[in-house]
Amino acid sequence: MILDVRNLKKSFPTSGDPVIILDDVSLSLNAGEVIALTGESGSGKSTLLHIIGGLEPAKSGQILFQGDDIIALDDNQRANIRRKSIGIVFQQFNLIPSLTVRQNLTFQARLSERGDDVDLAALSASLGLDTQLDKFPEDLSGGQQQRVAIGRAIAAKPQLVLADEPTGNLDEATGRSVFDLLVRLARETGAGLLIATHSQALAAAADRRLHLTHGKLTS
Ligand SMILES: Nc1ncnc2c1ncn2[C@@H]1O[C@H](COP(=O)(O)OP(=O)(O)OP(=O)(O)O)[C@@H](O)[C@H]1O
Ligand SMILES: [Mg+2]
Repeated sequence: MILDVRNLKKSFPTSGDPVIILDDVSLSLNAGEVIALTGESGSGKSTLLHIIGGLEPAKSGQILFQGDDIIALDDNQRANIRRKSIGIVFQQFNLIPSLTVRQNLTFQARLSERGDDVDLAALSASLGLDTQLDKFPEDLSGGQQQRVAIGRAIAAKPQLVLADEPTGNLDEATGRSVFDLLVRLARETGAGLLIATHSQALAAAADRRLHLTHGKLTS
């Protein structure tokens, strides 16, 4: 097991009672396993991924990853783990516009000090981007940009990949191929992949599906 989330609670303050978003959420993820996370808009999928990725605090619970509890760490330690061991793919691609495809692909790996280990030729070939390396993000289609974002996330071979509706801005066919690529690369690198999606068809391709509703996870 690479990730073990136990009894996670998260709420947001309001003018009245706090709104509970995650109510005792527990899940575990094995190396090489793909879990699809579904749930209505506003059910807390992004919140859950952000907390696991150390981008947002939680009220209580544990997130055990590589022998650490991500919740108990300080911001620096959390950032360090994220840089070294977690790849994150967002809905809005989030590429760096002033960097080329090549530079975007190696960016995360450089931060994790594994930039020299990246086999850019193999990576760009498996992403179908080998002829695009000197282009800038604005010159790419949405599907191509998301493939760069996937490449950036997995270049340093993280143990854990978190993807938040990575196909949400893509048409159905492109979304399917991007989803399949992400799953294939995660499996090849042995990473565990947790992927939030609105698409039941895509979720069906995962090893397991978890559904978030009213703060609770059900399978
Ligand atoms: N910083 C915040 N302050 C207050 N409420 C927030 C904050 N971030 C999220 N929320 C609320 O938490 C709930 C869960 O939001 P979240 O973005 O995690 O849902 P989601 O399942 O990812 O939705 P979508 O499918 O639309 O992306 C929503 O009701 C949202 O309004
Ligand atoms: Mg979301």
